[in-house]
Formats: sequence, structure tokens, C-alpha cells
Amino acid sequence: MDTKYIEVDKNVDNLNTYPQIIDAAKRLKQNEVVAFPTETVYGLGGNAKSDDAVRKIFEAKGRPSDNPLIIHISELEQIHEFVDAVPEKARTLMKTFWPGPLTIIFQKKEGVLSEIATAGLSTVAIRMPEHPVALALIQASGLPIAAPSANRSGRPSPTTAEHVWEDLNGRVSAIVDAGPTGIGVESTVLDCTGELPQILRPGGVTKEQIEAEIGIVKVDPALTNQEEAPKSPGMKYTHYAPDAPLFLVKGGREYIQQLISDKKNEGFRVGVLTTEENRAYYTSDFVQVCGRRSQLETVASGLYDALRSFNKADVEIIFSEVFENKGVGVAIMNRLLKAAGHKVITEA
Ligand code: TXA
Ligand code: MG
Repeated sequence: MDTKYIEVDKNVDNLNTYPQIIDAAKRLKQNEVVAFPTETVYGLGGNAKSDDAVRKIFEAKGRPSDNPLIIHISELEQIHEFVDAVPEKARTLMKTFWPGPLTIIFQKKEGVLSEIATAGLSTVAIRMPEHPVALALIQASGLPIAAPSANRSGRPSPTTAEHVWEDLNGRVSAIVDAGPTGIGVESTVLDCTGELPQILRPGGVTKEQIEAEIGIVKVDPALTNQEEAPKSPGMKYTHYAPDAPLFLVKGGREYIQQLISDKKNEGFRVGVLTTEENRAYYTSDFVQVCGRRSQLETVASGLYDALRSFNKADVEIIFSEVFENKGVGVAIMNRLLKAAGHKVITEA
């Protein structure tokens, strides 16, 4: 398949009548799949009402069929097409965080969306992205858009159109490029179908922010205990891993440098994932800086690009610093632990 590369300036007015957006929307209406930017990561969109379109999403990504997709909307009212009752807490959160990086799980109205999109579940995940291009495209298509992250399954999510191109060129109808995404980690997935809302995936909206609006929420025990089965199907799959084995190191810079030096002495090509504050400290074959630890948002923003960079650098082993499990740091550590396959080295 010829993949069309469509560049869009996200700052122009009236995006939804922009020829490039009309072109991409037309492809969606024809049940083709199109990658597009959101404020979190690039998504791979398709008509959420069409089995045909949704099948193409799963195929292009090589995604397991038991992993449901998030349905993206551009206006609040759209939700009533897919959901019978909006719980009060969900309503409060929608008012505060939509558009934005919060996905909410509702009981689903039957018979409206493709059963393949929701993996046959009785629930549906919905979000309104905060990105002018995403909103314009959804609006121009007139459709609910099912969209997982636009990476090949198992790879880090894409935060630039180049990442999408690396993974999906030739496998999708078009890629809409509007520059790098901002937040860099995916949306927070919050299940609002139970008595007490529960975070199934930490993401762009923090637990602290949610609790400030609706009071205490639960966190899926599987997020902190590997013995538990996660409630979000997608959370059980390995994800984000670079080709070389990645180890997270709970320890000081001296300790990390010692690990690097030992491996170098054994003849390995060693990579290290660090931050601006510590960059000058390490001597290694490849030093990848990812934001400032004093501003965790900058770490989130660059995380997936950093993980992808190690493959190009051809390293054989990677050591990474760890981050505070607070605010967006919870999402960062969740992704890093997955990328590392939970391999953690702790300084004695
Ligand atoms: O930021 C994001 O959320 C990005 C952008 C493109 O919007 N999308 C994204 O989609 O990360 P994806 O498919 O990579 O991750 C969706 C997650 C998966 O873990 C999936 O299992 C979960 O949401 N999910 C979807 N529907 C669900 C449901 N009904 N119940 C529980 N988990 C659900
Ligand atoms: Mg994903």
C-alpha cells in the first residue's frame, strides 16, 4: 500500500476545512486507516462503527484481537450515541479534563460501535483529545474514531510522525504530520463503571489531579503487583522495549557509572538513559538525555524518542536512571518498568 504523507500546520485557522484535513477525513470515511497526532502520542485512526476499518487497524499494528481500542470524539454530545448513562463522577471529570489526556470507561450502548473495536466487552473507553488537528480530523470525518497508539505492537508509542513512518509506512492509508506531540505518554485510563473509579493505566492526567476533582480513586493492584492480572487488557502485553536489554537502576550516579564501566570492560557497547542534571557525569558508548528530572513533564515528553534512539545507537545493554513515583512520574515509571521487563538493579 502507498502511504500518503500529509503535512499540516496545526496553528492555521479553520483546520477542519483545510484541504489536507479533508483529504485525511475522506480516507476515514472510506474506512481506510490514518495516523494522526494527539496531545499524548500519535494514534492510528479508523471508523469505530466499521468492522472493516477496525480490522485494518489491528492488522497494521499486529495487535492482539483481545485488546480493545479507545474511541475518540470531538464533541461532548457525541458520547450519548455510545453510552446510556454517564455517572456523575465521570461527568465532573469530563468537564474538567476534556479535551485532554483522560480516557474514561463506561458501560457501552449495544449495537452502535464495531464489536471488534471494543473486543466484545460490555464496556467502552472514550476520550476527547486536546489537539487541534485530532479534533479537526474527527469533526471533518463526522465519525467516532477508534485509535490505538500508531506503533507496531510492542514498540514504544510514537511521539513524532517519523516514528509512525518507521513502524507503519506501507501499512496505512496516510500519516498526518503536525510535529511532535506534547505530553509524550498516553492518556490515563480510568474505569468509571464501578462504585469507586479505578485507574487502569497511569498517564497524562495524574491521580492527584483526578482526586482533587472527585475524591479518592482506586488504582488497579496489577500496576504495582506483577502477580495480579491487569483489568485493562492492553496492560498485560510487553511494550516499549528497545532491542537491547534495559535495566532500571535504583542507585546513585557513581553506582550507575560502575555498572557501565564493568560492562564496557567485558566488551559490551553500553547505553545509558539519563537527564540534563546528570548528563555530564557518565562515560559510556551512548548517553541519551531525556528531559530534566526537576520537571518530570519534560521526561515524559521525550521518553519514547529516547527509548527508540537506543536501537539506532546499536548498543548491547542499557542502564536507566529511575524517577519519583509521583505525578506524571507514575506513568513514566510504569512505561520504563514495562520497557525493562521489570528488570531492576538496586544499589546495596
Ligand atoms: O493517549 C492515548 O490514549 C493514545 C492516543 C492515540 O489517544 N491511545 C492509546 O491507545 O494509548 P492504546 O490502544 O495504545 O491503549 C489503550 C488502552 C489499552 O491498554 C486497552 O486495553 C485499554 O486502553 N482499553 C480500551 N478499552 C478498554 C475497556 N473497555 N476496558 C479496559 N481497558 C480498555
Ligand atoms: Mg499503545
